[in-house]
Amino acid sequence: MKHMELRLTVNGVAKHWTIAPGDILLDVLRREGYFGVKRGCETGECGACTVLVNGKPINSCLMFAAQAEGAEILTIEGLAKPETLDPLQEAFLDRGAVQCGFCSGGMILAAKALLAHHPHPSEAEVREALSGHLCRCTGYRKPVEAVLAASTKKRPARAKAAEVSR
Ligand code: FES
Ligand code: FES
Repeated sequence: MKHMELRLTVNGVAKHWTIAPGDILLDVLRREGYFGVKRGCETGECGACTVLVNGKPINSCLMFAAQAEGAEILTIEGLAKPETLDPLQEAFLDRGAVQCGFCSGGMILAAKALLAHHPHPSEAEVREALSGHLCRCTGYRKPVEAVLAASTKKRPARAKAAEVSR
């Protein structure tokens, strides 16, 4: 079978893999040990396989690995620091927004991309950002609350104080 070289960055680490031209990014990431990237529907409907590609949430089941040449990829494994969780991960745990956890990595990455561009989103914007993520367990309310809580945490103290004094 014909093979090709793929050079990319995953969670801040440069990678050089040999792939087949038709390999799907989801399969390659899992083959390389990134099991936080979940295999769900494989048709772009559940969001469980979401990763950030150059900061944008992408269903990795719909992308050829070859299209990731030169890209920077973030999987859920790359979000926490060695000693601390990302504020979004903390908020999901604090709010009980993780139950079976199958959808959680994808949801958290989608929220990460949202907060990078809209640090203080409205509830509607959060719901829109999470709309491509199916969850059988939480009823969506707790993940939405968690994202809003994480965004409030990031809000400057002065803005919070102004709200409280209203
Ligand atoms: S596995 Fe990719 S969207 Fe469901
Ligand atoms: S927590 Fe189980 S599918 Fe979302």
